[in-house]
Amino acid sequence: MNEHEKFNVTGKRLWSSDLELGIPIIDRQHQQLVNNIEELFFAIKHNKDYDKIRGLTAFIKRYSIEHFQTEEEYMKKFMYPRVAEHTKKHNDFHQTVLKVEEFVRVQATSPVALQIVESLMLRWYVEHIKSMDQEFAGFLRENNLVKDMK
Ligand SMILES: [Fe+2]
Repeated sequence: MNEHEKFNVTGKRLWSSDLELGIPIIDRQHQQLVNNIEELFFAIKHNKDYDKIRGLTAFIKRYSIEHFQTEEEYMKKFMYPRVAEHTKKHNDFHQTVLKVEEFVRVQATSPVALQIVESLMLRWYVEHIKSMDQEFAGFLRENNLVKDMK
């Protein structure tokens, strides 16, 4: 049984407090994004509901752009030294979302789409939170900037 089947059986979501950075505006957006990517994974795997899959993909595309803008605006505002590197990762993720969108347009339940959603969206995004976003959060805390984020 892999990790995802386990989540499915218990009804437990992948999002958990260990993914929280302690920055409410960012944490809320991360939770929303992770939950929707997870839902997309299960929609492709089990439901085979084309409209739902397409709707979730569209939401993830729109919402991730907004979320990345939020992070990048704060990075620029606070002159975060790794803004370029971090932004590049966001752009890579956007390319992945476009690929998924293309796959589900042609074939909503393609095994390739499922694989991309699992490894390049779900796992990738959780890792991104734990590494690059966590590092940005550390910078914000060290410089006492969290209070200036709304
Ligand atoms: Fe990020």
